[in-house]
Amino acid sequence: MTPSAAAAPPLSVEGLRFGWGKGPQALQDCRLEIPGPGLWMLVGSNGSGKSTLLRLIAGLLTPEAGRISCPCKPALVFQNPDHQLLLPSCGSDLQLALPEDLSAAERAERVARALAQVGLPGLERRPIHTLSGGQKQRLAIAGALASAATLLLLDEPTALLDPDSQREVLELIHQLCHRSDAPLTALWITHRLEELRRCDGAARMESGRIGPWQSGAALRRSLAHLPAGGAER
Ligand SMILES: Nc1ncnc2c1ncn2[C@@H]1O[C@H](COP(=O)(O)OP(=O)(O)OP(=O)(O)O)[C@@H](O)[C@H]1O
Ligand SMILES: [Mg+2]
Repeated sequence: MTPSAAAAPPLSVEGLRFGWGKGPQALQDCRLEIPGPGLWMLVGSNGSGKSTLLRLIAGLLTPEAGRISCPCKPALVFQNPDHQLLLPSCGSDLQLALPEDLSAAERAERVARALAQVGLPGLERRPIHTLSGGQKQRLAIAGALASAATLLLLDEPTALLDPDSQREVLELIHQLCHRSDAPLTALWITHRLEELRRCDGAARMESGRIGPWQSGAALRRSLAHLPAGGAER
C-alpha cells in the first residue's frame, strides 16, 4: 500500500445522531467520509441538517450517538462574515486566530501570509467596515488559514455575495484545495447548483442523512427536475 493510500481520510463520520430538543432528529445515522484533500460539496433542502452537521464536526455541538474522526484542524466559515469578524482592523482580527505561543515577528509574518493567500495583501491596517462583502468573506477565510486549519467547513459562503465575488471565493477555495504543497480539504454547503462544477465530489443531504458522493455534474442533473431549478430552497 502506498503511503497516500494508507493516510487517514481528512474526515470520517459514522452513525451520527443529534436532535435539537423536542423536534425531530436533525441528524440520524448520518454517515460521511471525505476520502482526501479537495473541494467537496453538500446540497440539501432547508432543514435537512447541513449546518447542524458542520457544527458537530467543528466541535460546537456534541453528538448524541456516533463517531466523528477528524485528524485535521477544522475551521468554520459562515454565510455572513459579519458574524465572525470581531475586531476593527483586518490585522487585529487575524491576530485573534493565531496560536498563542508565537513571537511578535512570527505573528506579523503569519498575518501577512494569510492576507496574501486570500488576495488581500498589505491590508493589515484596513478597517473591516470598509471592505466589500466579498473581501470580508475572503478575510474570514484568511482567519481560518491563520489558525492553521486544514479542514474548511463552509456554510453557504457565497449566499450573500454578488456574482463576481461568488466566483472569486469559489476559485480561492478551489485553489487552496488543489495547490501542490499541502492542499486543504473543504466541505462546502451550497444551494447554488452552478457551484457544483468546481467540486471534486458532491452529495445530497435529506432528512439528516447523506447520500453517496457523485460528480458535481451528475448531482446537478439529478436535481434539475426539482422545482425552482433544483435549488432545493
Ligand atoms: N439552534 C437551533 N435550535 C433549534 N432547532 C434548530 C436549531 N438549528 C437548527 N435547528 C433545527 O434542526 C433542523 C436542521 O437544521 P439545519 O439548520 O441544520 O438545516 P440546514 O440543512 O442547514 O438548512 P438551511 O438550508 O435552511 O440552512 C431543522 O429542523 C432546524 O429547525
Ligand atoms: Mg444551514
